[in-house]
Amino acid sequence: MEFITNNARETEDVGRKIASRLSGGEIFALVGDLGAGKTTFVQGFAQELGIDRVISPTFIIMRSYDARGKIKTLYHVDLYRLENNIKEELDNLGITGIWGSPDTVVLIEWADKAKKMLPENAQFIDFEYLDENKRRIVF
Ligand SMILES: Nc1ncnc2c1ncn2[C@@H]1O[C@H](COP(=O)(O)OP(=O)(O)OP(=O)(O)O)[C@@H](O)[C@H]1O
Ligand SMILES: [Mg+2]
Repeated sequence: MEFITNNARETEDVGRKIASRLSGGEIFALVGDLGAGKTTFVQGFAQELGIDRVISPTFIIMRSYDARGKIKTLYHVDLYRLENNIKEELDNLGITGIWGSPDTVVLIEWADKAKKMLPENAQFIDFEYLDENKRRIVF
């Protein structure tokens, strides 16, 4: 599945759409360069679950949000600042003990840094910067 978006709002809409058909326990591995639209996607996704203000978790690695509906908690992880011992860091954050639980959804930015340690059911989404306002999003 591929989407070309022409502004940030359209990228949020893609996030909203994906979030509207969750079963629970999903793990989304978001991959793409700086400014490719990963956080923008998460913002739309979170809005669909009743979460209004998503702040980029770059400096603290992970933020959790109470959600509305069958998903109780959204975890937003950003691995940008992690270089080494990523498995250990993820364990320390507690996320490896949580992901896959049916009342949660996990979105991980810069997930390519953790590729080998993600669960098998992680769904990769690639974000590509096409031009100032255009992005390609591929599932
Ligand atoms: N079509 C588009 N989709 C998403 N963002 C867009 C689009 N067009 C312009 N933008 C702008 O590009 C920027 C995307 O930033 P965003 O924080 O979502 O990227 P990111 O992939 O999370 O980057 P980082 O790796 O730094 O966390 C925003 O400033 C947004 O307004
Ligand atoms: Mg981001």
